[in-house]
Amino acid sequence: MQSFDFVIRNGTLVTATDTTHADVAIAGGRIAAIGRDLAPGTRDIDAAGKFVMPGGIDAHAHIEQLSASGLINSDTFETATKSAALGGTTTVLCFAAQHVGMSLTKVVEDYHALARRGAIVDYGFHMILADPREEVLRDELPPLIKAGHASLKVFMTYDRLRVDDMQLLDVLMAARENKALVLVHAENHGMITWLSKRLLAKGYTAPRYHAVSHPRLGEVEAFTRLIAFAEFIDQPIMIYHVSSAEGVGVIRAARGRGLKVFAETCPQYLFLTKHDLDKPGIDGAKWMCSPPVRETSDQEALWQALCLGDLQLISSDHAPYAFNEKGKLMAGPSANFKQIPNGMPGLQARLPLLFDAMVSKGRFGAQKFVEWTSTAPAEIYGLAPRKGSIAVGSDADIAIWDPDKRVTFADADVVDGAGYTPYAGRTVRGWPITVLRRGEIIAENGRCVAAPGSGEFVARDGGPAAEPLGRLAPEFDTERNFGAQLY
Ligand code: URP
Ligand code: ZN
Ligand code: ZN
Repeated sequence: MQSFDFVIRNGTLVTATDTTHADVAIAGGRIAAIGRDLAPGTRDIDAAGKFVMPGGIDAHAHIEQLSASGLINSDTFETATKSAALGGTTTVLCFAAQHVGMSLTKVVEDYHALARRGAIVDYGFHMILADPREEVLRDELPPLIKAGHASLKVFMTYDRLRVDDMQLLDVLMAARENKALVLVHAENHGMITWLSKRLLAKGYTAPRYHAVSHPRLGEVEAFTRLIAFAEFIDQPIMIYHVSSAEGVGVIRAARGRGLKVFAETCPQYLFLTKHDLDKPGIDGAKWMCSPPVRETSDQEALWQALCLGDLQLISSDHAPYAFNEKGKLMAGPSANFKQIPNGMPGLQARLPLLFDAMVSKGRFGAQKFVEWTSTAPAEIYGLAPRKGSIAVGSDADIAIWDPDKRVTFADADVVDGAGYTPYAGRTVRGWPITVLRRGEIIAENGRCVAAPGSGEFVARDGGPAAEPLGRLAPEFDTERNFGAQLY
């Protein structure tokens, strides 16, 4: 008879497609059996009254990363992934960030070294390209994609990181040639810069004006241009952190035309509004991220877009900066909104906020919760079938949720490097009380019990999501372009 390391008994097992009462047996870090009356394991966990769900996959997290502000995020791999584990997340996709002049190969090596030392959950890297020089795309990119980093991220805004139209086209073409997905921070840089200058010149300097300075039409313009480029090259894209009802409209129209446009939103756009930035003095800086959080009507449009499949997943965009001179207040306590780094923590709060809204409050339910936070990111980013579900042969990445446990977010409980939570004072019902990564308990009853460095790199290929549609733009079609070979 097969021997098991763990058997999780009597729980409600939830995947993106099914909800059943079944036990889950684990051996050698993988799911070995699912059923009833399974043989005892070395240790049995009684999950009666609990939900047994796949560990979360957070596909957008800035960890120990040189960011757009020129600062490293206020986190190490250890602190960030500890917060992830405590919040029920067992895999993160973070960034190896190339800035201008850097070798991409060296950048990827450096981030690997940081993660190997500190990571508690499993991880992969999206490669940020701020300087897609010819030799980077020709010589460095192909072996890095083959080594398991099959996603490239570009920014259409931020002075340090943004690519221009030609560079964006180069990256889309390089991704197509090497079968990688392209992920984009899409906002119109000129509109943001122009409006920010105008606000500052008129003395509107407080953090609340950050929410004004990123026009929603800047999202519309950038999404539209990006989608036109992606259609032209025939390259699948992922649009990051969709914040506005207008942005959703552009994505819906593109998907309606059959284009391979994936998109995510984040908890901050579902649970916060611009009024959260409207605090005395510089306190609103804690809620500053880009794009900014918007209105309750946008929240509703984003939920609808998730429900309709226009958005497929919810990531955190964890980008923490401590509320001190090494982070948010790098330019001092009287800084204007342009001098404050953008981003907020989210690795720990993502799943409990969503569990509370979707499972405890009953909107969309447990299976959609699993789909949007684990299964869809696994499928889109090439982690499936190893991750993102509870199935025989998959990694035993499991979060056991107590649906009755109430927790009130408080700054004192924060373990990531931000030192504050944007959700302080908010109470959620439902909390991950036991979290297993590859069959090892990494968090239990609010304590992280895994060793830093025990997380493993997960190599990914582009998979079906990165496959082009095969719809040639006329300019690339040799039958319509006088025979010019452009691919
Ligand atoms: O405000 C944000 N989102 N900061 C993180 C950097 C990014 O991806 O935009
Ligand atoms: Zn972004
Ligand atoms: Zn981001």
